[in-house]
Amino acid sequence: MKIGTDLQLAKAELEAGRLVAIPTETVYGLAANALNEQAVLEIFKAKNRPTFDPLILHAGSLEQVRSLLLEVPPLAEQLFETFSPGPLTILLPRTPQIPDLVTAGLPTVAVRIPRHPLTLELLQSLDFPLAAPSANPFGYVSPTRPEHVAAQLEDQVAYILDGGRSEVGLESTIVQISEEGTLEVLRKGGLPIEELENYGPVEVFEHSTSNPRAPGMLKSHYSPKTPLQLGYLDDLIAEYPQKRLGILAFKRTISGVPVDRQCVLSESGDLAEAARNLFASIRSLDALDVDIILAEWVPEKGLGRAINDRLRRASVK
Ligand code: TXA
Ligand code: MG
Repeated sequence: MKIGTDLQLAKAELEAGRLVAIPTETVYGLAANALNEQAVLEIFKAKNRPTFDPLILHAGSLEQVRSLLLEVPPLAEQLFETFSPGPLTILLPRTPQIPDLVTAGLPTVAVRIPRHPLTLELLQSLDFPLAAPSANPFGYVSPTRPEHVAAQLEDQVAYILDGGRSEVGLESTIVQISEEGTLEVLRKGGLPIEELENYGPVEVFEHSTSNPRAPGMLKSHYSPKTPLQLGYLDDLIAEYPQKRLGILAFKRTISGVPVDRQCVLSESGDLAEAARNLFASIRSLDALDVDIILAEWVPEKGLGRAINDRLRRASVK
C-alpha cells in the first residue's frame, strides 16, 4: 500500500532519492531531496512541469532556513518568526549549495516552513530540505487530500504520506522584499495580505500571461478540464439555457440546477471554510458529466482575495 502515515518509510524513500507526496496545511506537495539534482529532476518529469518553473524549498526550522540562504534580512527573519510554520513563502538570496534546477537558475530561492505536524516532523528528521511543488500534474488544480494525489500521480510517487485534509486549502502566499523594504506579494495565498500589512508597505502583483513576475505564475494555472465561467450566478445561468451545468456557489445552492451538481463552499459564509473546500469542490464538479462549471465570486477580503484569484485563473480557457 502506497498511502499511509509511516514517517520512517517516507524518510527512507526521500533519502534514496525517490518522490514522496507530503501533506501540508496549504496543499499536498510532491517532494524530493532538494540537494539531489537527479531526485529534483524526477519532480519535473512526474508533473510534466517545465524546468524554467522554480520550486519552493521546505525546511523544518528557521535554523535550517538560514543555512540555505546567503543572508536573511531582519524583516524576513521577523516574518518567519511570526508566521512560520505556516502558509508564507519568502524569496531570498540562495547559497550555491542549492541546485540550479530548484531555482531555475535564479539568484533567489523560495523557502517556507510548513505547519502540518507529520511533515514538520519528517523535515526535522531529515538532514536536507525538500523541494516540493503542489502534487498535481502541471496546470491542474492543487490537491488538498491524499486521494487527489493518488488519483493523478500514484504511479509517479514512492509513497503518499497521509495527513488527512489540508487545513488551509490554498497554496502559500509568496512574498519578496524589495530594496526599500516593500513586501511584494507575488502570489496571494493562505496567509491573508492584511496580516502582512503590519510589517511595512505591501504591493500586490496581479498575474498576467504576458509578463509573469515569476516564471510559472501564469493565469492559466489551476484549470479544471471542464470550462469554468465566473460571474454572478443568476446572470450566468440565463446565458446557458441548453447546457448541463455544474455550480460552484459561495453560500447557497441555486434553483433550476439539480443539487447533486452544485457545491457550496461555506453555508455560513466563512472564508476559511470556503478556502478549505475550494479545490476539492472544483475537482468534484470537474469529475461530473457537465458542459460548464459556473462559479461566483466570494467577498474580496482576507482569504477571499486568494480564493477569487484561483477562481479567476481556473476560468481562463
Ligand atoms: O503552499 C505551497 O506553496 C505549496 C506547498 C506544497 O508548499 N507549493 C506550491 O508550489 O504551491 P508550486 O511549485 O505549485 O508553486 C510555487 C510557485 C511557482 O509559481 C513558482 O514559479 C514560484 O512559486 N517560485 C518558486 N521559486 C521561485 C523563485 N525563486 N522566484 C520566483 N518565483 C518562484
Ligand atoms: Mg502548483
